[in-house]
Amino acid sequence: MAKTALQFRHNGRDAAIFVDGGVNLLTALRELIGDMTPKFGCGQGGCGACTVLIDGDAHLSCLTLAETVQGRSVETLDGLKDGPNLHPLQRAFMEHFAAQCGYCTPGMLMAAKALLDRNPNPTRENVVDAICGNICRCTGYEPIIAAILDAARGAARRA
Ligand code: FES
Ligand code: FES
Repeated sequence: MAKTALQFRHNGRDAAIFVDGGVNLLTALRELIGDMTPKFGCGQGGCGACTVLIDGDAHLSCLTLAETVQGRSVETLDGLKDGPNLHPLQRAFMEHFAAQCGYCTPGMLMAAKALLDRNPNPTRENVVDAICGNICRCTGYEPIIAAILDAARGAARRA
């Protein structure tokens, strides 16, 4: 089958791969780029584990055709840290024990990042709305919501 050349920004770096027609972005990231941080949960849009940012907006990479990110910016959890320093959201998740098995965590963090990037001062309702498509089977959600609100407050204090 003919492959399509695809170029995009992956966590701030140029990426160039060849994809089969119909391959989704989750598969392209994991199997062709080698970025295993977006997780395969359900593969059909129901869990949020595969959430990545495309041009700053949260998208389910399992439902996104890889070809649609041509020339665009894709951010994953792999790009969240600043060198050895955790992102404030990662630190807040750690401090609030907002991860247990951790399988949902990459998607949660990316959904939270999309929210805080466009709304640095969210309400609890805003946070719940932002992560409503991300399923967590472990934490009961409250530590996750508290962590996101705390990360936002910390960012406001530093500003
Ligand atoms: S793996 Fe994409 S929504 Fe579940
Ligand atoms: S921490 Fe286990 S699914 Fe969320």
